[in-house]
Amino acid sequence: MERTLVLLKPSTIQRQLCGEIISRFEKKGLRIAGMKMMQLDDKILEAHYAHLVGKPFFPALKASMMKTPVVAMCLEGVDAIAVVRFITGYTNGRKADPGTIRGDYCMSNQQNIVHASDSPEAAEAELARFFKPEEIYNLGDLNLDRLYAIDEN
Ligand code: TYD
Repeated sequence: MERTLVLLKPSTIQRQLCGEIISRFEKKGLRIAGMKMMQLDDKILEAHYAHLVGKPFFPALKASMMKTPVVAMCLEGVDAIAVVRFITGYTNGRKADPGTIRGDYCMSNQQNIVHASDSPEAAEAELARFFKPEEIYNLGDLNLDRLYAIDEN
């Protein structure tokens, strides 16, 4: 089992799509191990997007991420990091495949609905950045027999 960070970005809040996007992750079979709303600030965004701080679009990206609170989610499942990236789709919504979240819900490279961790290292660092340990819940084996074969998890 892996855990990964998803942020529902301000574009999702503004367009009142939170329920719809959360529902896609749930229907896929990913489990919600943590979820909360939070207002991001300069400090957390400069850490979260450290690889982009020098890019010309960074000030606009930061402003767009502070426009409303975001919904931070910890999703879990077998291979959850790659699965969530796959169903999130390519960064630019205009180029993202139909059937992916970005491909189905946006027209933008920046107002692109969700953030999803892109590697195990990023997922670990990002979950620690956005959640306190006690905000991530242990769901146990609750429904694993419905989601996976016995030798899959
Ligand atoms: P990046 O980490 O490259 O993509 P992803 O979100 O798919 O992991 O970029 C982070 C965010 O930066 C991206 O979701 C939207 C924003 N961004 C822009 O605003 N303009 C750009 O040209 C790029 C590449 C990203």
